[in-house]
Amino acid sequence: IPLRLKVCSVEEMRRIDEEAFKKFGVSHDLLMENAGTAIFSLIANEIGLFDKRFCVVAGTGNNGGDALVAARRLYAAGCNVEVYIVGDPTKFTELARKNFELVKSMGIPIRFIQSDEDAKNFYDYAKNCDVFIVGIFGIGLKGEVTGFRRSVIEAINKLGKTVISVDMPSGIGGDNGKVYGVAVKSDYTVTFGLPKYGNILYPGYHYCGKLYVSRLSYPPQLLESEDIKVELNYPLPPPERVRWGHKGTFGKFLAVAGARYYYGAPYYVAYSFLKAGGGYSRLAAPKSIVPYIAARNSEIVFIPLEETSEGSIAKSNLDYLLKLVIDLDIDIVAVGPGASLNPETQEFITDFVAVVEKPVIVDGDGITAIARNVDVVKKRRFPTIITPHLGEFSRLINLKPAEILEDPINILRRTCIDLNSYIVLKGAHTLICKPDGYIYINMTGNPGMAKAGMGDVLTGTIAAMYGIGYRDIGDAARMGVLIHGLAGDLAAEELGEDGVTPDDVIEYLPKALKVIRE
Ligand code: APR
Repeated sequence: IPLRLKVCSVEEMRRIDEEAFKKFGVSHDLLMENAGTAIFSLIANEIGLFDKRFCVVAGTGNNGGDALVAARRLYAAGCNVEVYIVGDPTKFTELARKNFELVKSMGIPIRFIQSDEDAKNFYDYAKNCDVFIVGIFGIGLKGEVTGFRRSVIEAINKLGKTVISVDMPSGIGGDNGKVYGVAVKSDYTVTFGLPKYGNILYPGYHYCGKLYVSRLSYPPQLLESEDIKVELNYPLPPPERVRWGHKGTFGKFLAVAGARYYYGAPYYVAYSFLKAGGGYSRLAAPKSIVPYIAARNSEIVFIPLEETSEGSIAKSNLDYLLKLVIDLDIDIVAVGPGASLNPETQEFITDFVAVVEKPVIVDGDGITAIARNVDVVKKRRFPTIITPHLGEFSRLINLKPAEILEDPINILRRTCIDLNSYIVLKGAHTLICKPDGYIYINMTGNPGMAKAGMGDVLTGTIAAMYGIGYRDIGDAARMGVLIHGLAGDLAAEELGEDGVTPDDVIEYLPKALKVIRE
């Protein structure tokens, strides 16, 4: 369960660096010394200093400078250290050069890697090392890693020794977590100040190994600044479950979902609402599929709908459903799971979303419907939550998935502001963005959850969070994501990741809430 911690962009980190000096007099020199010392402390605490050969692989930028401080600290402590400089030593930044000169004058063995030939020799020299401290590039990486730099990283990965990355695994994009050709597969990464997007987004997060954040000497007010609008999705205190409450106290939910042959999605969305704490779950579904779902579940209340010739929701239900939402005093609505791509149903969904005067979660086939006419959500007067995975998000904004992955945070932020909606971008580390552009990165969940039906469970869980009393819809969205992931983690702990199904996640929803309450 994550702590409360901001996550920043490369540009924001550089601004923090500048302000630390300009406003507080904390020099870059001091920060570099602290950074190398943080690496040294990690080694002392986690790995041990003696009976090991340390190999410090440094680039010529400030990331390399940090690594060189670590080399000095290790050497000063009596460790067996050697240093490899990757790149042209005439290109050192001023601070990196200063540390290079110190390393040299202290007599630490240094080798230079400036060609493919050197990179080949590196493999032979370095294979006797036990621990690699790698700072070839940090947040200053630009473009693909090629040539001898690439060969050095490949050699480090191939050797399979203990690897510690300085700030960011070399080869990972600081703003997107992408691998630029090749990246250092690390056991540990110590990042400085705040984690950058690339430390937290996949695959960067995976390349970090165990991730540590060292605050160095940064003034805390800079690291907690309100200008930084991304943070980890930390749990909010759960609303008390009122002792004298009745089923209406914990939310009245209406799911509009399902079509012929899509029996799972409507069931999951409606049932997960109850298992995640919600009070009253109604499912409006095409009338011919209701008996099948009812045979599986007796806690959901059904609203049979007129259907198209394909067995999906007919347009003629619109007025009836709108009236029902008012008459039943529904608190929150979800529309779209398993609703099909039938053109009439798609039209129904857009019309329904346009006029329903309640918070609405648009999921599954509902996302395809609104992607055709995004103005519908822009104009809504009540909150809208859209829950796309990457493919659906790509259709929603007309950008290729690869283009989105270049800059996921900013693209998501722009879209939420533009659509005046909450967006839950589902994936490994789901992102939750509010209409004001504030983003939470969720840290619960596991790859066992990459399975059909999981998204439907998420939609029901988000609705339930609103039902149990997270009455800010953004809070409900991010708690829904957190609880859903945690339920998946608890299920995986018990069953192993591979076979975790939506049914298992539903079963573990109560336990996940219990963990949060405790
Ligand atoms: N190929 C080759 N060289 C590259 C590439 C690339 N694709 N991308 C960047 N470089 C070179 C730059 O020319 C520069 O020398 O790598 C160096 C930049 O890397 P960094 O050291 O990450 O950048 P810099 O801004 O100097 O330092 C930032 O310093 O505050 C510390 O560790 C912290 O990550 C942070 C780092």
